[in-house]
Amino acid sequence: MGDATSDSIEVIIPNENDKTVPRCSHGPALLFERTRNVAQKGRRFYACSACRDRKDCNLFQWEDEKISEVRSLAREAQNSSKSPPFTHQEYSSRFLKFVSLPVEQRRFCVDCQLLILPGEWMNHAKHRALSENVSVQMLKRPSLLLSPLDNKKSNAQYLFADRSCNFLLDVLLGLGFQKFLCVGTPRLHERIKLRNAEGGSPIKSLLLDIDYRFCQFYGQDEFCRYNMFNHYFFDEQEAVTEFKAFLCEEGGAKVIMITDPPFGGLVKPLANSFSQISQTWKSVNDESEHVEMPIIWTFPYFFESRILEYFPSFSMLDYQVDYENHPLYKHGMTGRKQSPVRLFTNLSPKGVQLPADEGYRTDVNGDIVMNVVTVSSHHGVTVRLVVAVLFLITPVVRNKQAVSTVAATNTK
Ligand SMILES: C[S@@+](CC[C@H](N)C(=O)[O-])C[C@H]1O[C@@H](n2cnc3c(N)ncnc32)[C@H](O)[C@@H]1O
Ligand SMILES: [Zn+2]
Ligand SMILES: [Zn+2]
Repeated sequence: MGDATSDSIEVIIPNENDKTVPRCSHGPALLFERTRNVAQKGRRFYACSACRDRKDCNLFQWEDEKISEVRSLAREAQNSSKSPPFTHQEYSSRFLKFVSLPVEQRRFCVDCQLLILPGEWMNHAKHRALSENVSVQMLKRPSLLLSPLDNKKSNAQYLFADRSCNFLLDVLLGLGFQKFLCVGTPRLHERIKLRNAEGGSPIKSLLLDIDYRFCQFYGQDEFCRYNMFNHYFFDEQEAVTEFKAFLCEEGGAKVIMITDPPFGGLVKPLANSFSQISQTWKSVNDESEHVEMPIIWTFPYFFESRILEYFPSFSMLDYQVDYENHPLYKHGMTGRKQSPVRLFTNLSPKGVQLPADEGYRTDVNGDIVMNVVTVSSHHGVTVRLVVAVLFLITPVVRNKQAVSTVAATNTK
């Protein structure tokens, strides 16, 4: 599967310094080339990098199109009307005021998805719902307070189930990572902060995500509003400085990046952004060209060849990533469909011990993986299935087989 759709649209990675690239409220547009007929040269156009549905963002411009002054002003006005109502700094000072209030005065407007201060209550009086008595515990779990933005063609905010989140965290802590760059993984970031509050050696986490609602809960040293399709930091220089400082492995604190992009996202621009992140990591740590930043990229298994095209050193691990609020991508133990989402990584697969209590088995050589899955039969009887998968066959066949074997048995 490629990034070309049926009428063949290819993404062209624009030159970083090209100031003529049009912008929408999601930052610089991406350049696409549409080819209807192989014999003819394609026509290039700019469109929004973040939204795949024109209803969500209607930026469109032919590459060679001249934009009138009037249209350009209208676009600027539209962009600023779609910007967050507050700057990150303003959100942070609102948060400080908010936590200093007695709990009975702490309200969250569900309609506006905003923590509101007493002087603003009147403006929200007619809104659909208000959460009152917002406790410190609730503020520590923004992913529960906020409604997930589950629009498939833009945010696709599907949150890790606790078991997947804890598995990732435990494995990576076991491998000695102390700094987590969470790109589009707000639940993991939240989980890290909760672990820190429980004690133990502190883990650092920086969340990069396009969802500005997180500015309400996390300071500028913990959250940067970022677009992973064009490697754009909304707070530009200020955020880039935080980002670079975070990547610096001062005192030997090892950094890893974990990303879980929207499933329909185009692989090419994502890979370009992740390469740029990796380049920055290399430059701040004086690493040689041959050393790679440790990365885990969570994505459906059928993108394996696409991801490997850009990151040949990556391998796909058999772990099935599960989501709390996705209708299909749930854990097999409930008898639902199996999640097709896997981990792609440049970590050594042998170092990533898949959890035995979830039915994963690996022999000492890593040659054979036994995936033992518990499913419920039609009559509610629980049966144990053992799927032995030989590593000698090619990775694509191996992983598809693992999925289809279990899925086929599930439907019996
Ligand atoms: C599939 S969800 C992953 C959430 C993750 N499973 C978790 O529980 O932490 C995709 C995440 O990427 C974010 N996102 C969507 N589009 C983005 C973009 N263009 N740039 C950066 N983040 C984006 C969403 O807001 C969401 O948090
Ligand atoms: Zn846009
Ligand atoms: Zn409101």
